[in-house]
Amino acid sequence: MTTLIAYFSRAGKNYVSGDIVDLKIGNTQVIADMLHDSIPDSDMFKISTIAAYSDNYKACCEQAKEEKSANNRPKLRKHVEDMSKYDTVFIGYPNWCGTAPMAVFTFLEENDMAGKLVVPFCTHEGTGLGSSEEDIKKACPKSKVLHGHAFFGTTVKDALPEMAKWLSELPL
Ligand SMILES: Cc1cc2nc3c(=O)[nH]c(=O)nc-3n(C[C@H](O)[C@H](O)[C@H](O)COP(=O)(O)O)c2cc1C
Repeated sequence: MTTLIAYFSRAGKNYVSGDIVDLKIGNTQVIADMLHDSIPDSDMFKISTIAAYSDNYKACCEQAKEEKSANNRPKLRKHVEDMSKYDTVFIGYPNWCGTAPMAVFTFLEENDMAGKLVVPFCTHEGTGLGSSEEDIKKACPKSKVLHGHAFFGTTVKDALPEMAKWLSELPL
């Protein structure tokens, strides 16, 4: 059995410590890459939607707010071929409007997560995991969902020691 690191991350213009910065690699992807390097034989899966999100920060926030208030499930561009081969699924995402982007819930609901260990992690600009951990538990009622970890988006490039400590303390 192996580990899957599934993550949603949006590169492009984002809010970083009060400024709009053009991120070449999304913050969550930086952490997902670190995890992939640290977990032998792990696989990665990038959750991406058919409909693109705006590169403009404010426009993207409007899209995210609308999706959240409508409780939408945006369609995904690609799908995991064989979820049954994973017993542990790390699920990574940015905090969007207080929870995970709706595409994360599309992913969790379209895959059979029953019996798997689900490990949430997010990146954020101040509000941590928000309600994402509880929302993920609701989306995966037949999984064991561990307490999630929130990485501050602005400092992800220096987060290797924090990620390693968190990983070493997980009951895997
Ligand atoms: C649409 C949108 C909504 C956001 N909402 C929040 C929020 O509610 N709380 C927060 O702390 N950060 C929020 N952020 C900041 C992101 O969580 C943060 O920049 C994150 O590290 C981005 O990860 P990514 O580059 O992997 O997409 C938001 C960013 C965007 C684009």
